[in-house]
Amino acid sequence: MDTYRRINMFRVSKKANSTASTFILLGGLLMVAYLCTDFNEGETTYLTSVAAKQNRSSINSYPRCQQNISAAGIPGFGSLSREIQDFLYHRHCRHFPMILDLPDKCGGDDNPEDVFLLLVIKSPPTNYERREVLRKTWAKEKLHRGMWIRRVFLSGTLSDGLHKEKMNKLLEVEHREHKDILQWDFYETFFNLTLKQILFLEWMERNCNHARFLLNGDDDVLANTDNIVEYLDGLGSYDWRKHLFTGHLISGAGPIRRSTSKYYIPVQVYEPSFYPPYCGGAGYLLSGYTALAIYHTSESVPLLPIDDVYIAMCLAKANLQPTSHTGVKTLDFTKTLQKVQNDPCILKELLLVHNFPPAFIYVIWYQLHEANLTCGYHTEIY
Ligand SMILES: *[C@@H]1O[C@H](CO)[C@@H](O)[C@H](O)[C@H]1NC(C)=O
Ligand SMILES: *[C@@H]1O[C@H](CO)[C@@H](O)[C@H](O)[C@H]1NC(C)=O
Ligand SMILES: *[C@@H]1O[C@H](CO)[C@@H](O)[C@H](O)[C@H]1NC(C)=O
Ligand SMILES: *[C@@H]1O[C@H](CO)[C@@H](O)[C@H](O)[C@H]1NC(C)=O
Repeated sequence: MDTYRRINMFRVSKKANSTASTFILLGGLLMVAYLCTDFNEGETTYLTSVAAKQNRSSINSYPRCQQNISAAGIPGFGSLSREIQDFLYHRHCRHFPMILDLPDKCGGDDNPEDVFLLLVIKSPPTNYERREVLRKTWAKEKLHRGMWIRRVFLSGTLSDGLHKEKMNKLLEVEHREHKDILQWDFYETFFNLTLKQILFLEWMERNCNHARFLLNGDDDVLANTDNIVEYLDGLGSYDWRKHLFTGHLISGAGPIRRSTSKYYIPVQVYEPSFYPPYCGGAGYLLSGYTALAIYHTSESVPLLPIDDVYIAMCLAKANLQPTSHTGVKTLDFTKTLQKVQNDPCILKELLLVHNFPPAFIYVIWYQLHEANLTCGYHTEIY
């Protein structure tokens, strides 16, 4: 549950909205007239363009998911927020057409590559700067002992017509140049993050089911890829065809029943008062075996809007346990940020830290790889 990124995400889109209004105002009558037409025809225009894209790139399509009207009959439905109502109406929708696909990311059917580590990074369309910095730093694709470290960004779409088209275009250009964007045709909302995870796993089963390990995380983390690889290598006799799921472990948490909280989960969505132990969604490591196990059990676990908890529910259902890795620091980020700022050496001993601004990731990464960086011994950083 990474409050920060989500808050940022909404901040970004708010800012984007206001930029759009300014644009419309300045653009004068012609522009307004044009936009109105665009919005009026919104639904159909956009459906055709998606369909055309699917035909061009032969991406398998799904019929548009209809809302479940009988959800309105759930006791107390009327008292729930619009977002939660919307979630309940669409809870059963698990398949969305892809707008941007990468069927050959892991070599393709005919020529499967040995993928040691797949970096799976959730990134809303608006976070262009974050993606750029990650491509240049810790998420760079490279060979490791003859096996690949590969990268994909997971994205949905914006809901507002004008911005949706603009941002889709951006992702399309990035996809063409970097071949690292997976995009589905669903709205990027806080409550749809679980959907993103499930859609990724479905993609993975189809296109990259032989990846040995995955790092699943947000686009505002700084991962020390070298340490991650060393850790995975160091598992030694460990068989990667077995279970592995590790990160910042949170136990004994339960749903927040306070309706003013961002993480409010009413009993209509989740009845038990405890969550299973889960790893903070900002970044965790898992084996390909475990990723597929999660995917298979997810089919019988009703969606929960909190993605990291949902993944843990699927793990539990598969009788698998998450474990704790002290090198993954996804809480208390302001403190970590300051410490790393004062001394990049701290990162030498960590796998992943959370909520770093993109420019800072860029600088720290270079400092960390400077030939003359000399590091002493560090103990606990918290
Ligand atoms: C996509 O392809 C199908 C079958 O090849 C065709 O019937 C359909 O009209 C095409 N759609 C668009 C939007 O081109
Ligand atoms: C629609 O919602 C009702 C009420 O929650 C539920 O019983 C039913 O299974 C749902 N249908 C689908 C297709 O998910
Ligand atoms: C999730 O995305 C779908 C497709 O865009 C949308 O219909 C639905 O309202 C979204 N759900 C939530 C809870 O935001
Ligand atoms: C080495 O460290 C110093 C001081 O931190 C720095 O000015 C210099 O650019 C670094 N890099 C090299 C390659 O000397």
